Amino acid sequence: EKGGYEHYMRKEIHEQPESLRQTIAGRLDVDAGDADLDTSFPPGFLADLEEIQIVACGTSNYAGRYAAQLFEDLSGVRATVETASEYEFGAGRSADRTLVVAVTQSGETADTLGAIRRANAAGARTFAVTNTLGSTVTREVDDTAFIRAGPEIGVAATKTFASQVATLAMLAVAIGRERGALAAADARPVLEGLRDLPGAVQQVLDNEDAVREAATEYGDSEAFFFVGRQLGVPVALEGALKLKEISYDHAEGFAAGELKHGPLALVTPETPVLAVLTEGGRADETMNNVTEAQTRGAPAIGCVSAGDKYATLDVSLPVPDVGVVEPLVANVYLQLFAYHVANDKGRSIDKPRNLAKSVTVE
Ligand code: M6R
Repeated sequence: EKGGYEHYMRKEIHEQPESLRQTIAGRLDVDAGDADLDTSFPPGFLADLEEIQIVACGTSNYAGRYAAQLFEDLSGVRATVETASEYEFGAGRSADRTLVVAVTQSGETADTLGAIRRANAAGARTFAVTNTLGSTVTREVDDTAFIRAGPEIGVAATKTFASQVATLAMLAVAIGRERGALAAADARPVLEGLRDLPGAVQQVLDNEDAVREAATEYGDSEAFFFVGRQLGVPVALEGALKLKEISYDHAEGFAAGELKHGPLALVTPETPVLAVLTEGGRADETMNNVTEAQTRGAPAIGCVSAGDKYATLDVSLPVPDVGVVEPLVANVYLQLFAYHVANDKGRSIDKPRNLAKSVTVE
């Protein structure tokens, strides 16, 4: 059932080219510069839309953070992300001009359902992005888009993160186009990136040996810092979550610019820095911050856009050119890094201690 893989997690990481193909199938129209998620917003709703609030937990929250930046850029709507357990509709907003989007793989996360119930009670329109047909969330929202990633067994979310971001990117294009905020010519490069995403992820998977070596070389460190800027920030957060979840090592993710505002005090030769150095992530500025950590002795592993060479990196992992989804491709390297560090330590990768795949208590 694991198809020759030792763990579901590695199988699911390797399924990403195919799961992403399912996610985008029939939904992209590159020539027309549009995406179709079969949504049914009431007439006039999108034109008047003032804010998109994303509510989600854990990895789904990081997918939401990635998407919020895309919503602002592509749909021209203010977008915020909240940890579902902390969400309140909030003062100063008009409910009929707000779309609340729950991002939840399982569709059963109690914290996320609680947030959606509060949004519904406030009178906002609600939307779910989920992997699970017939899940509770689909019965509580006005509209649903399925991410079509297929079943995910490993407790650590992997292929569903990629499919969530891809689905939300298509939603951002669709809303932007329908509101008249996005020109076909500006949508096209995003759609081309999505179209090329499965192949780009495959290239990363084909380079797994390089990540395995890095995991073996640096896996026994004291702590791990993951950094990026812009679209690289949610990927840094996700990379750190994945590593801590399955390896039980201390890992932190943050905006690269924040290194010098505190975390740099912790940096030593025993704290590798993993960096997202791609398009959509202000790579040159991020590299400056990485260099500051290297000056204090930290080894640096970078996921780098094809062509951009930062010769001072200790390990450079190339990311194919796919525009704003490059950080999403870089994330596959971070998934593999977490997997191999945890595997070298003999951890219970598919069922980490203290965690459940679906968290149905608040
Ligand atoms: O099913 P959901 O997407 O709502 O789950 C949310 C989180 O519980 C989940 O992403 C969790 O953080 C994962 N174990 C991370 O790998």
